[in-house]
Amino acid sequence: MKVAIIGGTGDQGFGLALRLASAGEKVLLGSRDIKKAENTTNVIHNMLKGEELECIQAMTNEDAASEGDVVILTVPLQAQKITLNSIKDHLNGKILVDATVPLETCLGGSSTRYVDLWEGSAAERSAEMLKDKETRVVSAFNNISASSLTNIKEEIKCDCLISGDDVESKEIVMALAEKIPGVRAIDCGPLENARIVEKITPLLINLNIRNKIRLAGIRITGL
Ligand SMILES: NC(=O)c1ccc[n+]([C@@H]2O[C@H](COP(=O)([O-])OP(=O)(O)OC[C@H]3O[C@@H](n4cnc5c(N)ncnc54)[C@H](OP(=O)(O)O)[C@@H]3O)[C@@H](O)[C@H]2O)c1
Repeated sequence: MKVAIIGGTGDQGFGLALRLASAGEKVLLGSRDIKKAENTTNVIHNMLKGEELECIQAMTNEDAASEGDVVILTVPLQAQKITLNSIKDHLNGKILVDATVPLETCLGGSSTRYVDLWEGSAAERSAEMLKDKETRVVSAFNNISASSLTNIKEEIKCDCLISGDDVESKEIVMALAEKIPGVRAIDCGPLENARIVEKITPLLINLNIRNKIRLAGIRITGL
């Protein structure tokens, strides 16, 4: 299985690429600019320096979406629509994993505030955009910080809350998330529950700021 990361040059995409390549997954790191993708891939190569080198390849977003089986979207909200429009012709029959969090920063505001979207959540916004395609949208990785992902020497002590309407694609994404050491994937039900999950992230950012830390995450107990 090939995992494409769209916007893989940003903090979240970089962290996911690093962790998934390190776990032996075949990662296609996408960018609007191939040079930028190559630079980011070189940084990951230098951090890993092992057999994982063959696991990661720099590409344009379009090529990564075209070759990937699972496509992870890691761009800010203001880039979500334009980016999806640029790749949507390659998403037929594939799984799109949406990690977008609608933060007020997209309106020049605060990263500790959530912005309500007409569709209910960023993941549902992606699903609405792709409704003419046979793309299964899964919401995941919204609550795991880039700092935790990049801190490669440590296990990630967080749950990955996963929502989606298609059981098989959710299982595939849960298995992928659990390739990252320490991560427990939790099936959170239908895609509409991304409305709740996405709202946890600005709270975690707030806790990071208040406690002068960077690794706040969430664990569900009692399951
Ligand atoms: N950072 C975190 O800790 C974290 C945690 C959980 C969820 N998330 C979510 O994950 C997503 C990515 O976060 P991030 O921190 O990685 O974002 P970012 O670094 O600001 O951006 C990621 C990438 O998106 C592309 N991009 C940025 N602005 C764009 C624009 N106007 N038009 C088209 N492409 C644009 C860029 O890639 P190219 O220039 O290479 O094309 C950029 O490297 C966000 O929705 C965020 O809420 C982030």
